[in-house]
This record gives sequence, C-alpha cells and structure tokens, in this order.
Amino acid sequence: MNRILEPEYMDSVEEAASYSTMDNSAANSSFVAAVAAAGGTEGNLLDIGTGPGDIPILLAEQYQGLQVTAFDAAEEMLKLAEEKVASAGLSKRIEVRQGDAKKMPFPENHFDVVISNTILHHIPEPIKLLEEARRVLKPAGVLVIRDLFRPENEAEAWRLVELHAGEGSEQQRRMLFDSLHAALTLEEARDLANAAGLSAASVEMTSDRHYTIVLS
Ligand SMILES: C[S@@+](CC[C@H](N)C(=O)[O-])C[C@H]1O[C@@H](n2cnc3c(N)ncnc32)[C@H](O)[C@@H]1O
Repeated sequence: MNRILEPEYMDSVEEAASYSTMDNSAANSSFVAAVAAAGGTEGNLLDIGTGPGDIPILLAEQYQGLQVTAFDAAEEMLKLAEEKVASAGLSKRIEVRQGDAKKMPFPENHFDVVISNTILHHIPEPIKLLEEARRVLKPAGVLVIRDLFRPENEAEAWRLVELHAGEGSEQQRRMLFDSLHAALTLEEARDLANAAGLSAASVEMTSDRHYTIVLS
C-alpha cells in the first residue's frame, strides 16, 4: 500500500489524551531494553518526539546515570509529559523542551545518546529527523530510532491493529491504522538511513510492526 501521511504533530487535547491512555507498556519496555542493549544508559540522552514522556521516565527510573531531554513539538503532549515527570519525582533529571525535530535547538556533537520511538512516520520528509539526530549525537554516541513499518496491504494493517489495539477505543484503533499507513517500509528506512549519513547503523525488523535503526 502507498504511504499516506497523517498530521505531523499530535497537538489536539483529544489526540494527546487518547494517545497517552493507550497501553504501550510492553512496546515501551522493549524499546528501553533496545536502548540498554545498545549501551545508552549513561550521559545526556535526547528523546525526539517524546509524546507523554513515558520512555524518558522508564529510562531515568532504571538508569541513574542518565540526564534526559524530552523533546516534542506538541504543546498538549508536553503538558502531559510535564505532569507525568513531576509526579514521578524526576523533574531534576528530565527536562521537557518544545521544538521541531527537523531543526533542533541543540549544538552539534552534544548528546551521548539520541533515541526516538514512533515519530518518523509523522514526518513528511523523515530524512530531516535522521540528519538532525546524527548532527546532535557525539561521534561515539549511541543512536536508537524505532518506528512502525508499513505493511504490504490494508488487510495486514488491520490484522496488526486488531492484534495490538483490539481492546482500544475506535479512535485508538484508527490512530494505529493511520500510523501504519504513514510509515516507511524496511527498504525505505534503510535507504533513508544511508542517505542521512547513517550507513554504519543497522536497520532491522525488531517486532511484527517495528524496525529499529541502531548505531552503537
Ligand atoms: C506517536 S507519538 C510517540 C510518542 C513517544 N515517542 C512514545 O513512544 O510514546 C509521536 C510524537 O512525535 C511528535 N512529533 C511529530 N512531529 C514532530 C516534529 N517535527 N518535531 C517534534 N515532535 C514531533 C508528535 O507530536 C507526537 O508527540
């Protein structure tokens, strides 16, 4: 099926709240495990497209040597992230920042670890995010970028929706379907990583609906 874009930012109150109440705990834990396996458990870490901040909170709770910047463009998402970070007692270790992933307000070679989970498919020109991620990462830094991949056809996309969001609301099921439709194929992701100067990274399928780009 063809790539059909969805809105870039998730900035309505309803969309942010709906995303935030989805149960992503298993997927978040497996992403945190991938970051740890790549060695990204110390230093300053940037999470691009942090949404409600669940992944930075999990990482900061598990790895005391991390100082985290949780970055997103959507004000409504960041309000939720700020509340969650404060109630986890992590405001001193997780800084919430607003801005565009395609042009980030950070210097070159700044972060030890750069991560991002399920945002690439939101971006019409995803190469810009990868180039920015590479720019702000220190030369020997760790990069872990995971996203959904685009299935071959809509029947397969709906099968994945039923499997992973079958218990969710109509809006949550539709959000996952639209995200799968907006995502890249594995081949497209590999081409993009090469074009963004990340040819040393591995780009592999890591679940029935995700691929992960890893530089470690
Ligand atoms: C599907 S959510 C994923 C949130 C989080 N990474 C997670 O795994 O729970 C995608 C997030 O990327 C953000 N986003 C999309 N385009 C962006 C951009 N250009 N700059 C910064 N954030 C962006 C959206 O606002 C949304 O919060």
